Amino acid sequence: MGCHHKESEEAIATGGSSALEAFRAAHRRGLAQIARLEAAAFSLASGQDIELRSTFGFFHEELELHFREEEQALFPALAQHIGWEGPLRAMMEEHRSFWKAVDALEEASQDLIHIQQATNIARHIVWLLRSHIQKEETMLLPLAEKLLGPEALAQVARDMLTLGKGVS
Ligand SMILES: [Fe+2]
Ligand SMILES: [Fe+2]
Repeated sequence: MGCHHKESEEAIATGGSSALEAFRAAHRRGLAQIARLEAAAFSLASGQDIELRSTFGFFHEELELHFREEEQALFPALAQHIGWEGPLRAMMEEHRSFWKAVDALEEASQDLIHIQQATNIARHIVWLLRSHIQKEETMLLPLAEKLLGPEALAQVARDMLTLGKGVS
């Protein structure tokens, strides 16, 4: 059993650290997409809807899963140490504000009449997501690194895998 046990411990350790790395990678992709949205916001009126559509596609596929992975895999693990009040609640609320702004942008960008409003909302979304990611990168992930042991991180990784398969 000794050898097998060691192997699974190694797998758990690897799975755990790759879980946090997966969050960081998702943040990098989010920042890249938001830079494209920022560029598009300057010229929304001149037919940037292709760029917008690809941004919405990214939000509703990849980013939505990323938020779910945080809310249903990483945050519950952290909550065991720091509770749901404070930083975790703040991050959940920022997720909700983000989707409200995305809904508003989707609506405003359907009609050229609302183009100025759409531009403002797009800039707001850029600001929201950047500051949200910055908080998670500088506060939440370092906290996870400090507080979550290999087993908790491996559980986060398993929960992410389940969520990624569309089972929730
Ligand atoms: Fe988040
Ligand atoms: Fe995040």
